[in-house]
Amino acid sequence: MESGLGIIGAGGIGRVHAQGAADAGCPVSVFCDTDLDKAAEAAEPWSADTVGSVDELLSRDDVTRVVVAVPNALHMPLAIEALKAGKDVLLEKPMALNEAQCNAILDAHADSGALLQVGFVCRYAATSQLARRVIQQGALGDIYHAKAVMLRRRGIPGLGRWFTTKADSGGGVLIDLGPHLSDLVLHLMGRPRVEQVHAMVSSTFGSPPDSYKFTNMWAGPPELEGDFDVEDAAIALMRCEGGASVCLETSWASHLPDGTIGDGVTLMGTKGAMHFDIWGDHVLVGGEIGGEMSDSKLPIPEGEGWGTAFKREHECFAKSCATRTLEGPSGAEGQAIQCLLDGFYRSVAEGTAVTL
Ligand SMILES: NC(=O)c1ccc[n+]([C@@H]2O[C@H](COP(=O)([O-])OP(=O)(O)OC[C@H]3O[C@@H](n4cnc5c(N)ncnc54)[C@H](O)[C@@H]3O)[C@@H](O)[C@H]2O)c1
Repeated sequence: MESGLGIIGAGGIGRVHAQGAADAGCPVSVFCDTDLDKAAEAAEPWSADTVGSVDELLSRDDVTRVVVAVPNALHMPLAIEALKAGKDVLLEKPMALNEAQCNAILDAHADSGALLQVGFVCRYAATSQLARRVIQQGALGDIYHAKAVMLRRRGIPGLGRWFTTKADSGGGVLIDLGPHLSDLVLHLMGRPRVEQVHAMVSSTFGSPPDSYKFTNMWAGPPELEGDFDVEDAAIALMRCEGGASVCLETSWASHLPDGTIGDGVTLMGTKGAMHFDIWGDHVLVGGEIGGEMSDSKLPIPEGEGWGTAFKREHECFAKSCATRTLEGPSGAEGQAIQCLLDGFYRSVAEGTAVTL
C-alpha cells in the first residue's frame, strides 16, 4: 500500500509542513481543510488532492500518515479520529488543551497500533542537534540552570481569531511558544522531573485588538472585532528533581528595541556553559582549560535554517512510520509538557508556585 501523507489544516504551518515533507522526499498527497479554497491554494505547488472533511481524508486507503495542524482545541478530537482510523499521526504542538485531553489521545493511541509523534520541531533545529551532541559528550558536566527565551516585538498570531481566543487555543503565548521552549530545554537537560513551577503572565497588547498596530500577521488576517482573552507575555520558572532550575521568558509582543535581548537557549553546567539562538548558525560553549577561560564558537552546517528543521522532522516521521519504531517526540513527552503548562496556568490562577 502507498504511504501517502495527508495534511489536516492548510493554514500557516500546514503549508510549512508541506514544504518540509517535500524536502524530506515524501511530498503531501492530500490537503484537508474545511475551507476548500485554502486547501486548493496550499495543494497547488505539490499537485496534491484536496478534501473538505477529515472523514473524507481518513477514509482514503492511500493516505497512511497524517499531520494534524489545526487550531489547538481540535487537536484532541482530530488526533483521536485519525488514530482510530489507523493513521500514523504527526500532531502539532501543543499536544492538546490540557492533560486530560492528552490522556484521551494516549488511550486512543494505545488501542490503535498507529504511531504518534508530537510536533516539537525545535528539537530538529541544527543548533539544537549540535548542542545535544556537545552535551552528550559531557562538555557541560551537570546542568544546574537553563534559560530559554523567545521575545517577539510584534508577533501576535491571528489577532482576534482562534489564537487569541482562550476557548479555541487554551491560552496565549505560554501555550503557543511555551511547549517549544520547555520541550527543548528539558530535552537538552536529559528530561529531569519537574517538581515545582511558578508562572506569571501579562496582557498588554491587543486587548482590545484594535489597540495593536501589527506589522507582520501570522494566521491572519486580523479580526479587529474578535476576542483577545489570553496573555501576550509570560515568565515561567521550574524547579527540577535534584535542584536544577529553568527559566522561560516569552512574549508575542513587546516594545523591546530590535536586537537588545537575543532569543535562545542558555545552559549552565558544572564543567561548561552554552548559549545558542535556536534559528542561528552557531553554538557558543564556554569553559575552563588549565585554569584559563576558553570559548568555542561551533558552526552548524551551512544552509541549515528554520525550514530544514521541518525537513528533518518529516524525515524522522517517515522513517519511524516505515520502521514502525518512533524516533521523534512521543505522546508521553507531549503529555508531560502539557502537565507543565497546566501547572503554569494553575500557578497564574493561584498567584503562587505550585507543586506538580
Ligand atoms: N511547530 C510550529 O512552529 C508551529 C507554528 C505555528 C503553529 N503551530 C501549531 O499548528 C496549529 C495550526 O496553526 P496555524 O498557525 O497553521 O493556524 P492557521 O489558523 O493558520 O491554520 C489552521 C487551519 O486549520 C483549518 N481548520 C480548522 N478546522 C478544521 C477542521 N475541522 N478540519 C480541517 N481543517 C480545519 C483552518 O481552516 C485553517 O486553514 C496550531 O496548533 C499551532 O499551535 C505550530
